[in-house]
Amino acid sequence: MFRKEGTAKDVSTTRICDEVWHDGEFIKWNDARVHVMSHVLHYGSSIFEGIRCYDTKRGPAIFRLKEHMQRFLNSARIYRMEHKWTLAGLCDASVALVKRSGLEQCYIRPILFRSLDESKPAFGVNPFPNPLACYIGAWDWGKYLGDEAIEQGVDVCVSTWNRLTPNSMPAMAKSGANYMNSQLIKMEALVNGFAEGIALDDRGYVSEGSGENIFVVANDTVLTPPLSSSILAGITRDSVIQICHQLGITVKERSIQRAALYVADEAFFSGTAAEITPIRSVDRITVGNGGRGEITANIQKAFFEITKGERPAPGAWLTYVNEQELSAPVVDGGSEAESFPGSTEALNEQEPVLNYLAASGD
Ligand SMILES: Cc1ncc(COP(=O)(O)O)c(C=O)c1O
Repeated sequence: MFRKEGTAKDVSTTRICDEVWHDGEFIKWNDARVHVMSHVLHYGSSIFEGIRCYDTKRGPAIFRLKEHMQRFLNSARIYRMEHKWTLAGLCDASVALVKRSGLEQCYIRPILFRSLDESKPAFGVNPFPNPLACYIGAWDWGKYLGDEAIEQGVDVCVSTWNRLTPNSMPAMAKSGANYMNSQLIKMEALVNGFAEGIALDDRGYVSEGSGENIFVVANDTVLTPPLSSSILAGITRDSVIQICHQLGITVKERSIQRAALYVADEAFFSGTAAEITPIRSVDRITVGNGGRGEITANIQKAFFEITKGERPAPGAWLTYVNEQELSAPVVDGGSEAESFPGSTEALNEQEPVLNYLAASGD
């Protein structure tokens, strides 16, 4: 079950699941701790995910669970984290956690990191001697950029910090260390009175926000930077692209110049935490009419209807938690088929999850 009162200050968190999934077991929130000499704390060696579970008429439904877990596994592969977790096992664990939490909606946070073997401690940069630990936590998270942001939009700035370069840190991996760059962008924005910062890539083209992808609308066409602009291949970004196709809106991946942000008709962020948040000004220059634009509103409406299960999604995007039959979460040696005895709408989908490489043109 969840705690009645939360302590977070960044958004209106009120409830935290008091259990955490750890390496195949459920442990108490208070027991989910690491040693201060763990490799991850010193060298940033973690990869993680952020997944939303929505309150629907059919109970809690996890949004694009399989795609998130596929990205999680991709991030682990990039960082040579050789672990025992399977796609199905991780999905299964998330479903079980949400079921046990009693939360009707929540944010799910899987994390895999290099920890410390206290019987054989290793303190160097070389990560290989350090054991891997995997946890999944969940809490009820409100609107990331504020409740009113979804309707009214946010005021943002272009950051003086660039996004990671492709040959320094791979933006494609959702690693904890990438978020040091995000923190610089976010802190600079906040101390200067903005809700969020937009980073440019190393060539000076628009990349993304500290925790969101970005879209602009010009002449009824929706544009978003390509993967080659050092962005995270956002799952909400992919959802927006597919929703545009469904709504008959032209959408293109293009390198975007900074100045285009100022003259766009509309702009918005996409992300699991931020969902679809309109941008009303950039560097104190009003974007379009200074509110939520019409195309943004249409995409946002379709997105929220889909996440509530009230509108057919372009794919099997919702995993209805109460309708899943679970075996014990798989830790190792289990096949993916064994871990899903029930019919799992999203998870039994035959087509590949998300092709991160296909959509990387300029
Ligand atoms: C840097 C960054 N870009 C983009 C996104 C959006 O990705 P997604 O829609 O998969 O949450 C996030 C959020 O996780 C992020 O942290």
